[in-house]
Amino acid sequence: MSQEKKIASVDEIDDPGSKGLSIDLDDEKLGLFIVKKDSQISVYKNSCPHTFGPLDWMPDQFLDLDNQYIQCANHGALFEINSGLCIYGPCKNQSLKTLPFKIKNNHIYLLV
Ligand code: FES
Repeated sequence: MSQEKKIASVDEIDDPGSKGLSIDLDDEKLGLFIVKKDSQISVYKNSCPHTFGPLDWMPDQFLDLDNQYIQCANHGALFEINSGLCIYGPCKNQSLKTLPFKIKNNHIYLLV
């Protein structure tokens, strides 16, 4: 049975905007990020399919300048915000790993 772990409130993330965080699971740390655009929330593991390193080079900065795509700061890969599919860059056609979550009382809960 999965557990719910509160990771953020919906209102603390700009729209469009993103937030990175790291949470402690039983025996590992999990880096993840949340994206909000057009009131839709997405949650991804902070691991680029190109090198498996984190995407951000500045805190909470996961979107491109136009806020149209998720952008990896390392080699510029672009990912669709809603699906996590890479549409440009060295990992084209690969995807970010989505993380299951639910929203309850205006808070985002990761299902772990
Ligand atoms: S590490 Fe993300 S594009 Fe290379």
